[in-house]
Amino acid sequence: MKVLVTGGLGFIGSHIVDRLIGNGHEVAVIDRKLWTEYDDYANVGAYYFQRDISNAKQTRECFYKFCPNYVIHCAAEARIQPSFENPYLYFRTNVVGTRNILVLSKIFGVRRVVYSASSSAYGDQTKMPLREDMALSPQALHPYGSTKRMGEMLMKDMGKMTKGPETVCLRYFNVYGSRQTMLADGPYATVIGIFLEQYKKGMPLTIVPDGYQMRDFTHVSDVARANIMAMFSDRVGNAEIINIGSGENYSMWDVARLVLGISQDRVPRPFELVKLKKCVMLPPRKAEVFETLADISRAKNFLGWEPTISLEEGIELLKKNKI
Ligand SMILES: NC(=O)c1ccc[n+]([C@@H]2O[C@H](COP(=O)([O-])OP(=O)(O)OC[C@H]3O[C@@H](n4cnc5c(N)ncnc54)[C@H](O)[C@@H]3O)[C@@H](O)[C@H]2O)c1
Repeated sequence: MKVLVTGGLGFIGSHIVDRLIGNGHEVAVIDRKLWTEYDDYANVGAYYFQRDISNAKQTRECFYKFCPNYVIHCAAEARIQPSFENPYLYFRTNVVGTRNILVLSKIFGVRRVVYSASSSAYGDQTKMPLREDMALSPQALHPYGSTKRMGEMLMKDMGKMTKGPETVCLRYFNVYGSRQTMLADGPYATVIGIFLEQYKKGMPLTIVPDGYQMRDFTHVSDVARANIMAMFSDRVGNAEIINIGSGENYSMWDVARLVLGISQDRVPRPFELVKLKKCVMLPPRKAEVFETLADISRAKNFLGWEPTISLEEGIELLKKNKI
């Protein structure tokens, strides 16, 4: 099959590209980055277009040249905190860009678009686990979350319902793995990347108060596999929303312990990690939910997908610089 991956030079997109090529598909990538500057993320088997998806003319050229059968749409402004500084940029890429992908998919007869949605669409919820059929909080908590919600709406409105391509939305929960941003002071870094970088440098791990926030973490190779299953499943195609998570959650203290290799038996109370100078506390951040936890029964039923890598295994793999 000919598969176009948007954002294929990013963390998740690059793993999807590798897996597609490994499975024998023909792959092209649209990314606004230049592949030669991101060779750790690029795959020699793929064709790279350096284009901006919010520019319809540039994006049309890629569809015209490649004529894909399927699109895996990962390109996005993808982090929460920077979205407060530049909401317009988020709207342009995540909403206008997604609209362009859907319009062109319809024109060029793409069979299915698989959309990288986000668990942040749920907003602030008190009831766990998060189920796809529950009501979303009235407001998203940040511009990033609003634009990811709008992307899901576009998948519905411009998909099969209006004679567009088949669509399916995969709501990812905190994805981690190799190629995630590791820079501890970068605005795009995520907690596991930050902790590992700090651990490798012998620095204390930085905990955002109060450290008891719970997150459902998903290994990137499981996410890549879910995308390919969503391309081919005959049980989806009508903008279904499907959680892609592990179905288990961990506090930041739990994650810190796994990275540090310090069990609860050795140091029972989390704040002892601060006393031992293994961790330091940071100021609180705005718009953080207390807990995420995915109900993954729909992914099992619709895609036949289940996670295969636990957080313990995933962190060990990262420490050994594997996947
Ligand atoms: N990483 C996570 O934990 C997570 C969780 C939920 C959802 N998601 C979603 O998964 C997708 C991939 O996320 P990621 O973590 O790999 O992010 P990433 O930032 O590593 O990758 C995004 C890619 O999109 C490209 N891009 C951004 N704007 C573009 C534009 N206008 N035109 C063309 N390319 C553009 C970037 O250059 C980058 O290579 C995103 O849609 C994100 O919202 C990620």
